Amino acid sequence: MARLAVNVDHVATIREARGIDQPDPVLAAGIAELAGAEGIICHLREDRRHIHDRDLRLLRQTVKTRLNMEMAAVEEMIEIARELQPDLITLVPERRQELTTEGGLDVLADPDRYRKVVERVREKGIRVSFFVDPEPSQIEAACSAGGDIVEIHTGHYAEARSDKEAEERFGRIARAVESASGMDLGVSAGHGLDYINIKRFRSLARIEEYSIGHSIVSRAVLVGMERAVREMIDLVRDF
Ligand code: PXP
Repeated sequence: MARLAVNVDHVATIREARGIDQPDPVLAAGIAELAGAEGIICHLREDRRHIHDRDLRLLRQTVKTRLNMEMAAVEEMIEIARELQPDLITLVPERRQELTTEGGLDVLADPDRYRKVVERVREKGIRVSFFVDPEPSQIEAACSAGGDIVEIHTGHYAEARSDKEAEERFGRIARAVESASGMDLGVSAGHGLDYINIKRFRSLARIEEYSIGHSIVSRAVLVGMERAVREMIDLVRDF
């Protein structure tokens, strides 16, 4: 039975469209938890385009399940994480021009840098997840950098343009999950998952948690946050 963690960035994106104070991602997180979500995720980006420092601070005070702070491995974010102490951080690549996180983190490019980040946040009791493409070499690098969890990037699978392509890309994810579990890492998955493309994951019982934002918030606009979260939980709880 897999867990659902809800990313509330897109609630903040709607708020930012008006530059006012609603809808509030902190309230959305509370409703998601009441509906059964077992984690709340937000990405504090360097440009603060959706989640603000105030949101993260209040989420730290109110989230009752697990708060996962997505962040770039930069000094400013490391300091904020050490101060606010989310339960978990997820290290992601970040480019200012991108609409959303576009690819997995290249841990192999600078393993020493990531090892130091892990050491600095672990001093505060924070666990570390690495968001990586479904590449065994990146998973190994995340493991040797001291990561507790790897989050497998499912975005390329979600963007497949044919069933054949989706099947191929899903195969890469399945192999990545196998290699991660062989390394004694926690395994989660996310990016671009929705109420339809998630069904294929039923066969991957080793994935412990799904990290989902956009499709849930999109559905919530039409049917309400509680129902949107419950409907996703109904899908992943069978996995
Ligand atoms: N996981 C990571 C690392 C992400 O950056 C995002 C997007 O913020 C998600 C999961 C959720 O992706 P989506 O909003 O497409 O469900």
